[in-house]
Amino acid sequence: MHDSIIFQDHSMKILFVCLGNICRSPIAHGILEHQIQNLELDWIVDSAATANYHTSKPPHVLSQQVCQSHGVQIANQRARQISDSDFDYYDVIYTMDEAVHNELLNKYDWHPEHKKLILITNLDSQSLTQGIPDPYYGEQKDFENVFQLLDELCKKIIVIHQ
Ligand code: 4NP
Repeated sequence: MHDSIIFQDHSMKILFVCLGNICRSPIAHGILEHQIQNLELDWIVDSAATANYHTSKPPHVLSQQVCQSHGVQIANQRARQISDSDFDYYDVIYTMDEAVHNELLNKYDWHPEHKKLILITNLDSQSLTQGIPDPYYGEQKDFENVFQLLDELCKKIIVIHQ
């Protein structure tokens, strides 16, 4: 019998999208990157905004703090707006809430890849139907709640796509 090495390409490309790309999607981006590093998965992860208000800005200071407290580094991320090419490039685009989801569905319903859009909280039948609560006007505990919800959902993303 010959020894053989079978290379299987399980690599996935995942994009998280929220309104500003400074609170929720950078946290999801950082958590999933952290989890796949621990599992040595060769995935590509990024995040983006529907709006352009915060383009080029680092994540919200409370997003950075909550991630840091859990050993997840997001300080080097910079906000960017989603582009048409993201729909070609990424395998799955996880939206953070219904408003973001519906905006992208309306904008890209012509696009052959619009079925790549998944409302992230649909991965969990127990969770909030309207998505991850927007913590922008909130305080530290609201960002911690977002972290906990996204930590669980990112584990599910790995189980689904691995
Ligand atoms: P994100 O949060 O969509 O989770 O990044 C927000 C960021 C900015 C604003 C709202 C939500 N804003 O109104 O500027």
